Amino acid sequence: MEMAVEATAPGKAILFGEHSVVYRGPAIVIAIDKRARIVAESREDSRIYFDALDLGFSGYFEGTRYFPVRGKSWHGKRLRAILVTAHRTMEHIGVHTGLDIKVRSEIPVASGLGSSAAIFVSTAAAIGEVLGANLSLEEICNLALEGEKVVHGTPSGVDNSISTYGGALRYERDLGFDKIEPLGTFYFVLGNSKRRRSTKRLVLRVRSLYERHPKIIERVIETIAKTSDMGLDAMKKGDLPYLGELMNINHGLLAAIGVSITKLDSMVHASRVAGAYGAKLTGAGGGGCIIALTDSTHIDWINNAIRKCGGEPFPVNISKEGVKTRRIER
Ligand code: PMV
Repeated sequence: MEMAVEATAPGKAILFGEHSVVYRGPAIVIAIDKRARIVAESREDSRIYFDALDLGFSGYFEGTRYFPVRGKSWHGKRLRAILVTAHRTMEHIGVHTGLDIKVRSEIPVASGLGSSAAIFVSTAAAIGEVLGANLSLEEICNLALEGEKVVHGTPSGVDNSISTYGGALRYERDLGFDKIEPLGTFYFVLGNSKRRRSTKRLVLRVRSLYERHPKIIERVIETIAKTSDMGLDAMKKGDLPYLGELMNINHGLLAAIGVSITKLDSMVHASRVAGAYGAKLTGAGGGGCIIALTDSTHIDWINNAIRKCGGEPFPVNISKEGVKTRRIER
């Protein structure tokens, strides 16, 4: 019987430590219950066929050459990193075959929510299962990092790790990853500014500010790192009011290093007025999303407040589940 495999993996949001983590201290990151989904099955020929019809295109690669079926030939560029992940996965297993790969995702792209990593994690997991290789989570995570390198150059490895393992992680440059066990249920609302931004550009902008005002920015970075440490403590204790307050402080510090924009500030303030424990921008800033911490009773208020600012709200919880696969018999 023909067999396809569906793999899904979660996106992420950074709760504390964006930008400071580039220099020192931890980042605290959570998996969110918005997932990317890949359905893969092998083909008789050697083509790698992609159906990304949600994004408006489909086509196939013969070797490294892209042939569009729906859409334009430049759409092939947007598939290259998935192609690299697919090739690396097959090389790793030592079996090469043609593939049909269907790409779907509930995670907004280029918003700091780890949509590309979730796609690469799902791709490696689905292909592993199609080829009957029993890939470990560590292998899947490393293979997804190959796709991340194509997109981001020198990725920290945060996005593919959280997407593979799920839950919540503490990450620090020289120390790597530690799983966190948050206490209780956390309700968040993300607000998407719908402005795309480049993480690389924002990291460079912070570096240039650092070079111009080393004494001041050094202190800000240190203080952000402190909010991460204290935020981690608050998560472990389930102290939501305190956690919210730290998120507010962290947002102010991110604004001080120049990575907030008016729309993010508006959504952050409107969420607080609507009853959030706290709110801050999440990820590199310059666009992308905010994250508000709330209880279950204020979700609708915060949704409306974000909409009024022209943002797109979506409530999320921490996803305990990392990558998952399921066989589909045809
Ligand atoms: O790409 P994003 O939005 O998830 O932001 C990454 C976090 C930064 O600290 C800004 C950059 C980094 O490499 O840690």
